[in-house]
Amino acid sequence: MTYHIETEHLILREVRIEDTGDMYRLDSDALVHEYLGKNPITCMGKARTYVDYIRMQYETYGIGRWAAIEKSTGNWIGWTGLKYNFEQEMNGHTNFYDIGYRFMPEYWGKGYATESSIAARDYFFEHFPNTKLCGMAELGNKASCRVLEKIGLERKNNFIYEAQQVELAWFEKMP
Ligand SMILES: CC(C)(COP(=O)(O)OP(=O)(O)OC[C@H]1O[C@@H](n2cnc3c(N)ncnc32)[C@H](O)[C@@H]1OP(=O)(O)O)[C@@H](O)C(=O)NCCC(=O)NCCS
Repeated sequence: MTYHIETEHLILREVRIEDTGDMYRLDSDALVHEYLGKNPITCMGKARTYVDYIRMQYETYGIGRWAAIEKSTGNWIGWTGLKYNFEQEMNGHTNFYDIGYRFMPEYWGKGYATESSIAARDYFFEHFPNTKLCGMAELGNKASCRVLEKIGLERKNNFIYEAQQVELAWFEKMP
């Protein structure tokens, strides 16, 4: 399955097998993982697992995170977009859709998470009508919480994510 969505500064496309090296650079970065359980990956095989998982989501659920390419440089900057959460319960929810993003630090603070999430949010409500869109972020991850608010998700409650023993904020939006 392929995707091609353009925003002002980004191209959002499907994650490809050849993105595995970039995915490794992203997920082996301790700064990137500060609010993701502080457990960056240490081998390329794990990055390939992430790539395969995203690609499985495209085929099985017709949805999945997208690679983000900066238009001005052609650089792969991270991923953004949608995911079907079917494996674990979060804040009392199972089988829900969430919106998320993960970029290399050198691309933070340019509005890219907001810009790409607006595109993903609009794509979601167009293709999954009458379905709730959810988001979550560690309380300390102020930038992520701010992005979810800026794209119009409503902040609901805080909850403990047992697997990482951290407190997260839960956001959601109906169409
Ligand atoms: C979270 C992340 C995607 C944000 O990306 P980004 O492109 O820098 O975000 P944007 O520029 O679109 O917006 C960030 C907003 O948060 C604000 N912000 C950033 N740091 C902040 C802080 N420490 N406190 C309060 N607000 C902050 C920015 O000012 C901006 O809001 P504004 O437009 O109202 O000024 C990026 O930091 C990242 O990839 N982090 C690592 C992975 C991660 O944590 N992903 C989210 C997991 S829930």
